Amino acid sequence: MKITAVLGSPIRNGNSEKMVDLFLSGFSNDDICIFNINELNCKGCQACDECEKSDSVICALHDDLQPVLDRVAVSDLLILASPIYMDQVTAQMRIFQDRLNVFLRKDFSSKLKNIPTVLIYSQAIEDTKIYADYFNTLKKVYKKFNMDVIDTIILTNAGAHNELKDDLYIKNYLKDWKENKYATHFS
Ligand SMILES: Cc1cc2nc3c(=O)[nH]c(=O)nc-3n(C[C@H](O)[C@H](O)[C@H](O)COP(=O)(O)O)c2cc1C
Repeated sequence: MKITAVLGSPIRNGNSEKMVDLFLSGFSNDDICIFNINELNCKGCQACDECEKSDSVICALHDDLQPVLDRVAVSDLLILASPIYMDQVTAQMRIFQDRLNVFLRKDFSSKLKNIPTVLIYSQAIEDTKIYADYFNTLKKVYKKFNMDVIDTIILTNAGAHNELKDDLYIKNYLKDWKENKYATHFS
């Protein structure tokens, strides 16, 4: 199985990246690719509409994001992880989101097959529900591309960058995700 994780934090080994690592620990026998948007030379969609003209998923920008887009297109499971900055995902993750435009045809149908997708968030605010509407909107946004959000995992109360260590519930949930959630979703 081809698994692709996209990291939106500028912090290496911070909460969201550690969450992804734990999540992926259950999939060690699979083909895993992890991309850190902060380390890529890429910019947001330039609205040139070149991608509307064919079923190609090659973006006219030809930058470091292309290998990410290529890999997304062949993925069997996608993990999109971001901390919350100013009540939203990071600017890095927003660049990735806008560049998903390459997968949309002129009639707004998606060039992608259905891809099970897991969203991972890390936030300082303790209230788990505070971003519920926003996370639901993002779920709908991803659906337009045939990215089918099957789980949203949120680490709260995570103002510092090593907060996962204290959250045993989320730690175990991530570690056992393949055994529990994956097994039920894909059986
Ligand atoms: C510029 C900036 C803005 C932030 N805005 C929010 C926010 O609006 N809501 C929130 O809950 N946490 C906010 N945070 C806290 C981060 O989401 C939190 O520390 C997160 O766990 C960091 O994850 P990371 O270690 O993966 O980078 C903000 C942090 C920064 C640096």
